[in-house]
Amino acid sequence: MYIFSEYQEQGFLILENFVSSIICDQLRQQTAKLVSEFEPQTVKNIFTTNEQSRISNKYFFDSSEKINFFFEENAFDNKANLCQSKELSINKIGHALHELDSVFKNFSYNNKIARLAIELGLKEPVIIQSMYIFKQPNIGGEVNCHQDSTFLYTEPEPVIGLWFALEDATIENGCLWAIPKAHKLGLKSRFIRATDDTTSFKILDNTQWDLTKLIPLEVKKGSLIVLHGLLPHLSYANKSRFSRHAYTLHLIDKNWHYAKDNWLQRNNLPLNSLSIRS
Ligand code: FE2
Repeated sequence: MYIFSEYQEQGFLILENFVSSIICDQLRQQTAKLVSEFEPQTVKNIFTTNEQSRISNKYFFDSSEKINFFFEENAFDNKANLCQSKELSINKIGHALHELDSVFKNFSYNNKIARLAIELGLKEPVIIQSMYIFKQPNIGGEVNCHQDSTFLYTEPEPVIGLWFALEDATIENGCLWAIPKAHKLGLKSRFIRATDDTTSFKILDNTQWDLTKLIPLEVKKGSLIVLHGLLPHLSYANKSRFSRHAYTLHLIDKNWHYAKDNWLQRNNLPLNSLSIRS
């Protein structure tokens, strides 16, 4: 009960030691394996065709049911070659690791997460997306202040974000920042995918957040940060020499309405329930 009321009141929760150090390392090792098997040539081609935005949009949309790799904005030079190794150039992997990779699937569907989802008020929790975020040393880019419900709109309740720190997250290496209680101010915008697969932001409220109220959420490796879908949060660029790896899941309830014009649509993969298994 404490967890639910704190989440509702503050808009976020920090649960320390939620994941053991060994499991954090296993997830990192599995990711290193996925990256080593990934051939950037296929993605590099995107940057050499005139249809760049159409194809990269398709790669993005398709990632809802795949394990796709997304580069840092400045990863490529003007000849479409990576400026440094692929291991140090990838911004994130998304968005179906939790379905398609056995190590991430085992982790994502574990009982501890299922119990937490119930405590957070979900009756039939499902995982709508997963991401592995690298926040690379020196080049890990800033993520602007946003609300997760902008991208994954649901009714009547907002999506719940779970952010697992697989390494210490500090101010220096680009930890999360959030504005406590600002989830109560409502949703500012929605990211809409039209039927022709173009995207746009629909503004619902153009008042600005008070960014002076942002606080850093510095956490140790193994901590879980739970984020209310309406909570404004961001992370600054990582200018340090340390990476800041994190794994994230977004949970919704099967009984909620999931907007058909959200960018992420699950058409083929079954939507599995996150249930407590004996
Ligand atoms: Fe976010």
